[in-house]
Amino acid sequence: MTKRVLLIVSGGIAAYKSLELVRLLRKRKIAVRAVLTDSAEKFVTPLSLGVLTEDHVYGDMFDLKEEREIGHIQLSRQADLVVVAPATANILAKMAGGIADNLATTLLLATDKPVLAVPAMNVRMWHHVATQRNLAQLRADGVHVMEPDDGEMACGEFGKGRLPEPEAIAAEIERLLALPVFDKLEPNGSLLGKHILITAGPTHEPIDPVRYIANRSSGKQGFAIAAAAARAGARVTLVAGPVHLPTPAGVDRIDVETAREMLAAVEAALPADAAIMVAAVADWRTADAADQKLKKDGSGKPAPLALVENPDILATLGRHVQRPALLIGFAAETQKIAEHAQAKLAKKGADWIIANDVSGDVMGGDANAVQIVTAAGIESWPVMPKGQVADKLIEKVAHALSARPD
Ligand code: C5P
Repeated sequence: MTKRVLLIVSGGIAAYKSLELVRLLRKRKIAVRAVLTDSAEKFVTPLSLGVLTEDHVYGDMFDLKEEREIGHIQLSRQADLVVVAPATANILAKMAGGIADNLATTLLLATDKPVLAVPAMNVRMWHHVATQRNLAQLRADGVHVMEPDDGEMACGEFGKGRLPEPEAIAAEIERLLALPVFDKLEPNGSLLGKHILITAGPTHEPIDPVRYIANRSSGKQGFAIAAAAARAGARVTLVAGPVHLPTPAGVDRIDVETAREMLAAVEAALPADAAIMVAAVADWRTADAADQKLKKDGSGKPAPLALVENPDILATLGRHVQRPALLIGFAAETQKIAEHAQAKLAKKGADWIIANDVSGDVMGGDANAVQIVTAAGIESWPVMPKGQVADKLIEKVAHALSARPD
């Protein structure tokens, strides 16, 4: 399959070299879609980049019509790798601070793909403590940063800060694209050799052959956690309720419909080092699902629907002989979030409860604001894309597991 790069060109005298870079990537059969910042447009024209990429070039003139045709989130996700070349001190600072004030920086904040930054700037700007601090932050965040070259600068000074030769950048891009798992590897620990068991999505509880009880869970958060765990090297079993989501790379997926099927699949997958129960399991099922479709009987009275409680999968694991060393539940709440989560911790025998406020559009949406409730206290995370919540959670899981004896 053709690999795809989203190339963000920020403003600097070296921006003209992005044309040569695109030519070299195309020669390597890598597809390139380019985004220019306003200041980059002073150095290269969208027309020349468009000719070389054979694609539309996106800029800050990104209008509503384009947004309707290809949203900025989609644009940020369609590539295999996002490359910022040249990356000015300014864009690096914005990336390190999570600032999104134009199309380029918005894409960088929205992407769930690995990012390569190729800095180019004046030598003093390069050595400035603020730039070095931003670079350290970006590296810690999992961004790949290429070292600039030494030499004479456009401004006449001499030193480090020159954009590496396009040939060297193209080779680095090719190297990153060829890595089997070139996504942000879990930076503070690894889940290699660990088995992580995850549930995700809703359950469907049949009423009759054509109707069921369900809830609004999309499965996105659970699938993102499974993907992040696989990227961190874990063996991942994902027990998924009925959702329309692709299976993340490197994940063993078991599809189920009902809570009871989900429980059976979870128990069959034990032992696990950690279990993360993200599924929104239906609390009740019909006492007796009808074999035939229920019909209106003309009396005007609805068919009686007797409900019984479903097994609690998380609580079952909490007291299981094969209880995973780390047991994590989710708590979707609309009010008194932390308070309810704290009660749930004890009730379910879990180690952590990830409380999320679903009073907004979390269900089915792409962002989530969570609080991690543990015996040690409550950690509140800011609103983040679900992919980022997943990465951060997996980082925390890796820490916790490495602190425990096997
Ligand atoms: O009690 P509540 O449904 O709010 O608890 C949510 C947590 O418990 C989630 O982690 C969910 O996956 C888990 N759960 C479960 N089995 C159930 C109900 C909830 O595993 N039947």
